[in-house]
Amino acid sequence: MTGSFDLRLLYSREDIAAMVRALAARISADYAGKELLVIGVLKGAVVFLADLIRELTIPAEVDFIGLSSYGDGVTTCGEVEVTAFPAASIESRHILVVEDIIDTGLCLDALLKFLAARRPASVRVCALMDKPARRQVKVEVAYSGFTLPDKFVVGYGLDFAQRYRQLPQIYTLEEAPVERQLASDD
Ligand code: PRP
Repeated sequence: MTGSFDLRLLYSREDIAAMVRALAARISADYAGKELLVIGVLKGAVVFLADLIRELTIPAEVDFIGLSSYGDGVTTCGEVEVTAFPAASIESRHILVVEDIIDTGLCLDALLKFLAARRPASVRVCALMDKPARRQVKVEVAYSGFTLPDKFVVGYGLDFAQRYRQLPQIYTLEEAPVERQLASDD
C-alpha cells in the first residue's frame, strides 16, 4: 500500500466494549470451574487481551507468544516462526489463544500446531475480528467477534507499518481520493 490514506471509523469504543463484554461472558460461562491460560499473540492482540481479561469472571493466567511473518506484512503471515515463547508450561492446561484478527489463518494454524505439540488439556481461540473471505487454511475460532469485509483495518492494537496501534477505535484504511493526493504532492 502506498500513497495517502484516510481513516474511516468502523467500530467505536462502545461497539468494541460491547463485543468484548459479550465474548468474555461466553468464555467465563464455558470455563466455569476451570483455570485458563490466556495466550495473547504479539503484538496486535495486546490491547484486546488487556480489555478481555478484565471482563472475565474466572481465574486466568496471562502469557504471550510472538510470531514472525515472512509475508508482505500487509496481507499475510506467509511462513511463520515462533520468535517469543510463552513462559508458562502448556502441558495439561486449558489454553485460550487471543488474536486481534484472523485473515488467511496461516499464523493461527502454525500457532495451533505449536501448542498441540505441547499436549495442552484443551485449546480454543478467541479473535476480535475475522475476515473469512480471505481464509487460506481452515481454522476453528470458538469465540469470534466482528466479521469484516476484505478491508485493511487499524487501531485498537492493529497497525499499518507499526502506526495506529494506539488508536482506541477501529478504522478502515481508505485510499485518499487521487485529486487530493495530487494536491498534497504540489
Ligand atoms: C496479524 C494478526 C494475526 C495475523 C493474522 O499479525 O495479529 O496474528 O496477522 O493474519 P493471518 O490470518 O493471515 O495469519 P501481524 O503479522 O500483522 O503482526 P502484529 O500483530 O505484530 O502486527
